[in-house]
Parts: sequence; structure tokens; C-alpha cells
Amino acid sequence: MKQHSVYNPATNEIVKTVDFTTEEEANKKIEKAHEAFLSWRELDAHDRSARLLKWYQLIDEHKEELAELITLENGKPYKEALGEVAYANSYIQWYEAEAKRVYGSTIPANNPNKKIITDKFPVGVVGAITPWNFPAAMIARKMAPALAAGCTIVCKPALETPLTTIRMVELAHEAGIPEDAIQYVILSGRDAGRIFTESPIVQKITFTGSTPVGKSLIKASADTVKNVTMELGGLAPVIVHKDADLELAVNQTIATKFRNSGQTCISANRIFVHQDIEEEYARLLTEKVHALKVGNGLEEDVDMGPLINEQAVEKVIDHIEDAIENGGETSQPIDQLKIGGNFLKPVVIRNANLDMKVMHEETFGPIAAIMTYDDLDEIIEVANDTEYGLAAYFFTNDYRTGFNIYNKLDYGVIGWNDGAPSAAHAPFGGFKESGYGREGGIEGIEPYLETKYLSIGNI
Ligand code: SIN
Repeated sequence: MKQHSVYNPATNEIVKTVDFTTEEEANKKIEKAHEAFLSWRELDAHDRSARLLKWYQLIDEHKEELAELITLENGKPYKEALGEVAYANSYIQWYEAEAKRVYGSTIPANNPNKKIITDKFPVGVVGAITPWNFPAAMIARKMAPALAAGCTIVCKPALETPLTTIRMVELAHEAGIPEDAIQYVILSGRDAGRIFTESPIVQKITFTGSTPVGKSLIKASADTVKNVTMELGGLAPVIVHKDADLELAVNQTIATKFRNSGQTCISANRIFVHQDIEEEYARLLTEKVHALKVGNGLEEDVDMGPLINEQAVEKVIDHIEDAIENGGETSQPIDQLKIGGNFLKPVVIRNANLDMKVMHEETFGPIAAIMTYDDLDEIIEVANDTEYGLAAYFFTNDYRTGFNIYNKLDYGVIGWNDGAPSAAHAPFGGFKESGYGREGGIEGIEPYLETKYLSIGNI
């Protein structure tokens, strides 16, 4: 049996070794998921909801254990991991209730002898592929709506962080969700993508990850016309206008920029600050960023853990070096940022400009790069000048300015004076190459449902 070791990014030690799933086993699991689908979809919505609620309760009872697993395999600080478990569980709680609210409709017919009704049906077996940055939340927001809708699901967690998924699936079984209705496979992304997209049984692919991988999954899904939901990359802009509350803007920038060491798809990548307030904003931001305590996430009072691995560290260093070559000023010397292993100190870069990589490529790391602007309309155009359209943030206390920015930004998730917009009850997803479909909110169950209509004649 081929084995896979899961490493702790804080120590580079093995946390646990798990068995890889073979291709034959994966296909068997998909077949079993289909058999389970035939009975899971027949359960009434209240019964499915009750089992999801039990699962929610079990996760809550095991939150410390799950948070520790997240910290061990992902590196994020324990208190942040506990927050992630609550965030993940809020999706299960939301969709436990939404299971009972999958409504149909009646449509006035154009003939008195006819009646038309519409109804929603689960799409079938779902193949889910998720990233390492939120080991619990990214999988929960796929598993919960899929199961609520009456679908069954086979999950492929990132190889860096499979342990949280394994434990969550065990708890789902304990809660009474049938073993074959929710399963996991331990496979490389490439193998899982191939097996899921080639399977005639899998009806839907849901993926969170990079835009290039998303594009290849969409292409591969075309052969069997699979339903897909894609939550892909981002390059979030932050616009801090001259009338903003600076203290709030700085605190919320830190919330979006340094959560999970900057390794989120909605992390601020480009910070545009009006020239009249840049000096004060940069001073306040630098002070707070330098106060962030970096260390092993299991230690007390740590604000930022390590990056996921050495390649991630190298990519961030490359963005900083490139920024320096292009005239950027770092808040602390670059040779003092690498503090061993996968740990990197957070840094503020002033004097950023559009020639820098950080203004065009997703960094996925703890750099806050500030570029000044004078004209608001021009900077909104700059903010929109990217193939990405996931999250954007802006800070202003003027409602006219605020709605003007909101209307013009081509992004799916917008935070106005808010650096933490994500919520289970709101639709998360992007415009343009940041993907399609939404997760969360009333929208998040729709991708797992098909609409059928019935036309009754001769009444
Ligand atoms: C992500 O990074 O893809 C998700 C972030 C979130 O849900 O807030």
C-alpha cells in the first residue's frame, strides 16, 4: 500500500502517515456513493436535516481536537484554527436548515386545462477537491449543501491537510450520515481530477483552488457535461479613501491581509491608499504589523504561524525582492524576514507601483504592499484591471463615495469598512477568472440541485 506522510509546517516533522487511495478503490467509492445516493435522496428533508444537525453538534463537541489537527497540518495559530472550526460548522448549521427550504413553484399555464409545477432534485454524486488553506471550512461548505440537497459526495482534500477531512467524515458517519454518502479519497490533485472528471457516475465537480487547475477541470468536465462550481484565485484590492477611519482601515486590512499568514484567496494583495493619508496609514499599519507575533501555532499568543512549505516562502521572498528592485521600500530589511523553517515575518512595502509582481500575481503570503493614488475613478479602474474578480475591500465614511465604489468594482465579494466579509449565510464566489457558482447563502445549495418541471394536461 502506497503511503503519504502529512508534515507539520511549523516543525517539518511527520504528523501522521495515511494510505493513498488506489484508482480502483476510488472508482469503487464513487460506485458506492451512487448506490448511497439512491437511498439518501429518498430520505425526507427533515431526516437529512436532523442528521446534519447531529453532525454539527458532534463537530462542536470535538472543536478543540479538530482545531489542533488544523494547526498541526496547516500551521495556523490554534485560536485561528478554533475560529475556522466554528466557521466550517456555521455552513453545516446553515445547510441543515436550508435542507428543509428547497422549494418548488407553480407556473400559470397558457391553457385552462393545464397546470405546471416545478420541483428541485439532487444532481447526484459530487466529486469535491479542496485546498490546504482552510482544511475544515472549504470542505464543509461543499459537503453540507451537497448532503442537504440529497446528493452524496466523495471529497479529495489537499495532500498537505487531509487529517481534518478524515476526522470530519468520521464524525459525519457517527451522526448517522451513511458511510457511502460521504467519503474521502487520498489522491494527488491530478489523479483525483482525472478520476472524477472521467467518471460517468460523478455528476458534479466542485473545486476550490488555483485558476489554472480550475480551467483544466472545467475543460475535462466538458466531455461528460458535468455541472461545475469553481472557487478560484484572487488578487484582492483594498482602496483606502481620504475620508476613511484610519484606525478601522488598518485593523481591517490586517484582518484580510494576515489571516492564515496571507494564504487565503480573499487576502488583500494590492493596497491603494489616497496620497493625503498614506503616511499616517502606513505608519499605523507598520506599527501593528511589526507587533504580530510569529511562531508555532500551538504556542500561546501566536498571531501568525508558518507558511505551508518552503516553496511558499520562496514565492513570497521573490515578490519582496521584485518589489525592492522596482523601487519599493520594505518596513524591515529583507534579510531579517526569514526566521527559519517556513516562518516569515510580515512586512509592509511602501512606494508600490504597477510594475511589481505583487500588483499582478497572487502572493499568498504576509506582505502588505501600498501604492498611493490621487484620482478615485482611476484607481477603481486599476483595481478592476485584472483577470480576477473574487474579493475587494474599500474604506470610506461617505455613503455616496461608498456606493459609487461598490457599483463599479467587478468583484463577487466586497467588504466596505470590513476586512472579514465571509459568512455561511452569504454567497461567496467570484467574477471573471475567479470562478463561477456561489458557496454559502441561499445560492450555495442551488448548484447541487436540478430543476424539473411537470406539465399536467387534460385537467
Ligand atoms: C479562501 O481562501 O478560498 C476562502 C476564504 C474564506 O472563506 O473566507
